[in-house]
Amino acid sequence: MTQFGIIGRLSLAAFGLAVSALAGAGSAGAQGNLVVYCTVQEEWCRGMVDAFEKKTGIKVAMTRKSSGELYAQIKAEAANPRGDIWWGGTGDPHLQAAEEGLSEEYTSPIMNQLHDWSVRQWEQSKKRTVGIYAGALGLGFNTKQLAAKGIAEPKCWADLLNPKLKDEVQVADPNSSGTSYTMLATVVQIMGEDKGFDYLKSLHRNVNQYTKSGAAPAKATSLGETTVGITFLHDMVTYIVDGAPIKAVAPCEGTGYEIGSMTLIKGARNMENAKKWYDWALTAEAQVIGGQNKSYQVPSNKGAKAPPQAPDFTQIKMINYDFAKYGSSAERTRLLSKWDKDVKNLPK
Ligand code: F6P
Repeated sequence: MTQFGIIGRLSLAAFGLAVSALAGAGSAGAQGNLVVYCTVQEEWCRGMVDAFEKKTGIKVAMTRKSSGELYAQIKAEAANPRGDIWWGGTGDPHLQAAEEGLSEEYTSPIMNQLHDWSVRQWEQSKKRTVGIYAGALGLGFNTKQLAAKGIAEPKCWADLLNPKLKDEVQVADPNSSGTSYTMLATVVQIMGEDKGFDYLKSLHRNVNQYTKSGAAPAKATSLGETTVGITFLHDMVTYIVDGAPIKAVAPCEGTGYEIGSMTLIKGARNMENAKKWYDWALTAEAQVIGGQNKSYQVPSNKGAKAPPQAPDFTQIKMINYDFAKYGSSAERTRLLSKWDKDVKNLPK
């Protein structure tokens, strides 16, 4: 059974469970500052910051960037860390940061409230990163554009190589974006490395732009600026809920997924406050803030009800994504430089 099956079952089993607030997570009026590096959508980052400031009185300075960008920033700042906690973003670069000693070990008192897949991320990283949500990779297309161009609905990764989709597909750059790295690692896991890179080279002909942020192609798809976008499915759902003419698809060959993660930054100046954020961010009370801000990932706290709009993992053919391998420093670095060399600068 893949971890995905476990996620699907546990998220359903979580419905209706009692929500327990974390004792000692901080009380209104507490003093101090906190620098949060955030890698979800801006609205959710802001929602979290506002709720945390209100609850604790701690003043938060927040920076939002993509997963690969924040990993690189934390590494560059290692001698003089400026951030305290990295909240959100795909798990692979969090695992890489853990392996490279950029993060602090921590055991939250509420680890027992978390789904197994979240705890496994924490164990795998030797207590240096923990799962806060899960999301499945997929694609979405603008139904009006596709119909107007007379192109068949893509249902599989293979369908994205249709010559009629030349310059009609958008995906992020895997160096900056954890979403796109998840896609790169997914394709390699499904097809094998040689065939996977052949696929990515062929796909390159149809890509109109490699964006910085992983969710940007969902917005572009909603606006009809691209016909197809490759993103996490929940990022397409955000626009579908708003009425955009998008159909989201879980590819027929199977797809990968992320365990969105959270990491305490080694040498953080505000470590005590960072731990308060960490403990609070794992509570059911904090994890429902995603759904309230149009982010439809599956939360890691068993007591946090998944938003009803969240993609139904039981309907998706999920691969057994190898986080140990693809989150390792050597493999992530190797695959990204291979993509730069073999794919990114290919002529069209
Ligand atoms: O938009 C939210 C989200 O898809 C998260 O689920 C994910 O962890 C993050 O964005 C990845 O962003 P990026 O691809 O820009 O690193």
